[in-house]
Amino acid sequence: MSSMKTQSAVRIQSLFPVLLASLVVLGTAQLVFDGLKSRRSYVFQFYGKPEKARKSVFVLPEDRMDGSCNLFEGQWVWDNVSYPLYEEDSCPYLVKQTTCLKNGRPDPFYQKWRWQPHACNLPRFDPLKLLDILRDKRLMFIGDSVQRSQFESMVCLVQSVIPEGKKSLERVPPRKIFKAKEYNATIEYYWAPFIVESISDHATNHTVLKRLVSLDSISKHGKSWEGVDVLVFESYVWWMYRPQINATYGSMEDAQEYNVTTAYRIAMETWANWLESAINPRRQKVFFMSMSPTHLWSWEWKPGSHGNCFNESYPIQGSYWGTGSNLDIMEIMHEVLQDLKINVTFFNITQLSEYRKDAHTTVFGERRGKLLTKEQRADPMNFADCIHWCLPGVPDTWNEILYAYLLQGYQNFL
Ligand SMILES: *[C@@H]1O[C@H](CO)[C@@H](O)[C@H](O)[C@H]1NC(C)=O
Ligand SMILES: *[C@@H]1O[C@H](CO)[C@@H](O)[C@H](O)[C@H]1NC(C)=O
Ligand SMILES: *[C@@H]1O[C@H](CO)[C@@H](O)[C@H](O)[C@H]1NC(C)=O
Ligand SMILES: *[C@@H]1O[C@H](CO)[C@@H](O)[C@H](O)[C@H]1NC(C)=O
Ligand SMILES: *[C@@H]1O[C@H](CO)[C@@H](O)[C@H](O)[C@H]1NC(C)=O
Ligand SMILES: *[C@@H]1O[C@H](CO)[C@@H](O)[C@H](O)[C@H]1NC(C)=O
Ligand SMILES: *[C@@H]1O[C@H](CO)[C@@H](O)[C@H](O)[C@H]1NC(C)=O
Ligand SMILES: *[C@@H]1O[C@H](CO)[C@@H](O)[C@H](O)[C@H]1NC(C)=O
Repeated sequence: MSSMKTQSAVRIQSLFPVLLASLVVLGTAQLVFDGLKSRRSYVFQFYGKPEKARKSVFVLPEDRMDGSCNLFEGQWVWDNVSYPLYEEDSCPYLVKQTTCLKNGRPDPFYQKWRWQPHACNLPRFDPLKLLDILRDKRLMFIGDSVQRSQFESMVCLVQSVIPEGKKSLERVPPRKIFKAKEYNATIEYYWAPFIVESISDHATNHTVLKRLVSLDSISKHGKSWEGVDVLVFESYVWWMYRPQINATYGSMEDAQEYNVTTAYRIAMETWANWLESAINPRRQKVFFMSMSPTHLWSWEWKPGSHGNCFNESYPIQGSYWGTGSNLDIMEIMHEVLQDLKINVTFFNITQLSEYRKDAHTTVFGERRGKLLTKEQRADPMNFADCIHWCLPGVPDTWNEILYAYLLQGYQNFL
């Protein structure tokens, strides 16, 4: 690890995000779903709003994790019986960017791996339980396009149990809002690639090449996050374009180049201050996602090769950590969260996702809002996207873990 650390300290990897304009593909489909099995159930009472009669959520013994189990340590096991948890065609809310099979990807194996923590099992994802937990509540994902796919994954994981007409997806830039009407629950997405404010904050018309981050500004965004019951933050790849980034602190006229690590720390501290002043930890739950790994250079897992994640069909076996997942940034996340006066759950999904060199959209996604042309597809060296993930896929696992935490915290927080 120490040589890796030195390497990452001197090199900020250029992780170039592909600009996306998402398009909602509408259609109709439904999945057969087996309902709640309530035998042998513990019934937890809801303590939040006693004035309202509520349906209780049944938490099965196997839903309850041993508190000492680290859900982020484990391995991927082949499971073509239970996975994928939904199909591309069964979720009308998937954008073209992520439907790799439909876009021509030949191998479907990437959809059929289950994350198996070493010390326990993940509870089986139950959309009805999640909707019950989210009744009269808002769950919001905040971040960049990687975070948007976690949002889309979550919508796809729950939407099949909601009948037509009882659900909707609305775009209110920079937000996307999925509503489960009968539950008065929303699953939302908020575009904020740096979390703090920047010139890239317009949901669709944002600059990719030119970046200017306001390291001390968050209140405009923050207004939209106030009162949200569950907040899930993420921000990484947009910082990692060059070792330096243009940013302001104080006056907007006073832009200067900051080392990315310095700028990231200041932005995280701005965010932390906002949390401490705006969050009520008794009623709101906050999660922070670690970096989503990239697989831009195949020589990192296959020495001697010169490709990228294109044409990879299987996860990496054994230990692996790519140089794209910057350890200095990881350390900054750790330190800032440690110093916070409120509890934020750190979602350390980097290692588990590092194994999944096979699960990126590669040439079977979009660039600048358009599917790649045949010619572009034939040129994976230049056109493979090794940052974003296919759906169904890895972000579903992040959400299975999020579900496990929400289920676990249900009594206490929600
Ligand atoms: C599941 O995988 C096993 C092992 O690779 C294979 O033998 C079997 O045919 C697969 N089943 C389905 C339904 O794809
Ligand atoms: C619906 O949910 C929102 C929060 O998401 C809450 O403020 C509102 O009171 C709920 N409406 C009803 C009728 O319970
Ligand atoms: C996008 O933003 C730029 C700069 O702010 C502006 O000049 C341009 O008109 C915008 N384009 C659209 C389609 O809104
Ligand atoms: C910062 O902005 C200046 C002026 O626009 C530009 O020349 C420079 O390349 C930028 N630096 C970075 C790291 O993007
Ligand atoms: C910025 O990074 C460079 C090279 O990585 C380093 O030499 C320099 O001390 C850093 N500057 C600050 C202000 O941290
Ligand atoms: C993809 O992988 C297969 C099997 O490993 C190999 O035969 C094929 O040449 C590869 N295709 C490209 C374009 O690299
Ligand atoms: C996240 O997990 C990785 C790999 O297991 C570990 O190296 C790293 O220290 C963890 N980060 C934090 C902040 O705990
Ligand atoms: C944070 O969470 C831990 C464990 O869940 C708990 O023991 C601690 O009291 C919490 N701290 C605060 C400030 O809420």
